[in-house]
Amino acid sequence: MCGIIGLTKKSEDSVKDVLRGLAMLEYRGYDSVGIAVITNDGRLIVRKGAGDLASVRKRLGLDELRGRTAIGHTRWATHGAPTDNNAHPHTDCKNEIAVVHNGVIRNYASLRSYLERNHELRSETDTELIAHLIEEELRNGKNFIKALAETLKKLEGSYALAIIYKKEPNRLYFAKMKSPLILGVFDEGSAVASDIPALLGITRKLIMLEDGEFGYVEPGGISIYKLVPEGSFYKINEENIMNRIKVVEWSPELASRGGYPHFMIKEIYEQPQALSDTYNGLIEDPSLKEASKMLSFSKRILVVGAGTSYHAGLIFTYFMSRLIGKIVIPIISSEFKFLEPAISKGDLVLAISQSGETFDTLEAVRSFKKRGAKIIALTNVVGSALDREADLTLYIRAGPEIGVAATKTYTSQVLALELLAVETGRTLGVIDNKEYEKIVETLEKASNYIQDSIEVSDPVAKYMAKLMNDYKGSLYILGRGLGHYIAKEAALKIKEISYLHAEAYPAGESKHGPIALVEKDFPVFIIATSDSPEIVGNAIEMAARGANVWILKSGDLELEIPEDEKIRTIDLISTDGNIVLEPFIYIPFFQLLSYYIAVAKGYNPDKPRNLAKTVTVE
Ligand code: AGP
Repeated sequence: MCGIIGLTKKSEDSVKDVLRGLAMLEYRGYDSVGIAVITNDGRLIVRKGAGDLASVRKRLGLDELRGRTAIGHTRWATHGAPTDNNAHPHTDCKNEIAVVHNGVIRNYASLRSYLERNHELRSETDTELIAHLIEEELRNGKNFIKALAETLKKLEGSYALAIIYKKEPNRLYFAKMKSPLILGVFDEGSAVASDIPALLGITRKLIMLEDGEFGYVEPGGISIYKLVPEGSFYKINEENIMNRIKVVEWSPELASRGGYPHFMIKEIYEQPQALSDTYNGLIEDPSLKEASKMLSFSKRILVVGAGTSYHAGLIFTYFMSRLIGKIVIPIISSEFKFLEPAISKGDLVLAISQSGETFDTLEAVRSFKKRGAKIIALTNVVGSALDREADLTLYIRAGPEIGVAATKTYTSQVLALELLAVETGRTLGVIDNKEYEKIVETLEKASNYIQDSIEVSDPVAKYMAKLMNDYKGSLYILGRGLGHYIAKEAALKIKEISYLHAEAYPAGESKHGPIALVEKDFPVFIIATSDSPEIVGNAIEMAARGANVWILKSGDLELEIPEDEKIRTIDLISTDGNIVLEPFIYIPFFQLLSYYIAVAKGYNPDKPRNLAKTVTVE
């Protein structure tokens, strides 16, 4: 996730507005910053560098820049480390076109090999390719809007673009597909930005652009076109555009969380976007196949992580054994020392850390490396310590996660790990191409399924939080197989955000001791995944001892649940028989439940007591 802004106006102080907007966009990405502006004497100036806004602004003198039309960018690296070269804006060979981008171009590898023959590519990013594609179309004699349309037709994946062209100094071009982009209009000009906060200092009159829309603004005019699947495009009627203008009354404080009261709830609702970007970033990434080969040829596979990352790793062990019959050994990072003597050359360690800076995980990785193991990292931060330690890194693309609770990074990790398991299965020949395509196509839709699951789960979680408002005791979250691994993440959310003691247990294990804790009205949640219909028996066991039992099940799962006033069923959305979707169906309920309990109790869900977002100490 990155932050983009673009602006064109009658006076020459567009850069001041762009800088103000970038300050509001820093939560979307802050490892590099850049600005491009067309000066009054017709020059296109680009100043950009690695670092946060304040340091780059000072180092490169961004405030000195003057001009009517400018674009700006705050980066959260996804393709290429945070370096001056990889910072946006990116330009074409002749430095006439400057582009800033938020999103992930899935087919960047094939576009890169197409362009590098006739273009001088200066960065590792997917974004730079867009500037060269437009340049290519201009060379073929098209005007800019047609050149842009032709370019957009070549892009697969997600983008929000702001583009300026030296030869049209009063125009700002834009395009939107699957990444947010908002148009702001004001007397003196127009602007586009990734979200509302960046525009509030300029205007409150906004148009929410829709997927497939692109066009340009100039002082006194807005032209919006719409790409149609067949590849052509049409201009949208000016009156319809004006009717879409909404006036937003948000305060800047509220706006910085996108209108949500807390970052945690905002990030729960960002999961569809995070999954879409993670999928698009990985599915054609050569590193995914490379990682699958390393996994296939390793003597032993271990997965290591802390907290939520460890829980994502458990899902990986589940699908590696279930889909391809490979045993993976899960290790909690802080427990690595007790396994160290057994590690040797030929072992493959998959290290999971959204921050890439967790001390325990880094210690484990460094120790295992010393003993000859190869390391694959899965992280959300390009250039993080874990990224630098690993022999190979895969990236999720969840964007910055501000809330202490891992939510969108967890589901993004699970998606990435399922893709890795399936890719490994294909490499080993255990999964044929037909099965591979079926599962991958299903995972592409995980974004839609989690969207529906969040919408279905929200009111139920809110209601359940009210029921539990005065409850101060413990609760169980039981599952079997995949359900048990999801339950462990669910229990962590409840503990760390609502401060209630929630314990995840394998449901079959309850009779070996834990059930002794159950008494009248003891809350028990049961995650009924499709691999364990027998879990109904555990629900009956618990209810027979007076527990209040809630069975969560996907809409298409048929279970024989007896009539019992102590057993209630919460029907979530259907997975259409796809077990790989079940983590995305079940976890939103518990993320939301933990959030609503915390809010009801007056806690701050973004900053839970005793916790830090990244634990960089032992
Ligand atoms: C999860 O909600 C917690 N914030 C915590 O357990 C976290 O997952 C853990 O500290 C690992 O962080 P990492 O993914 O950045 O390594």
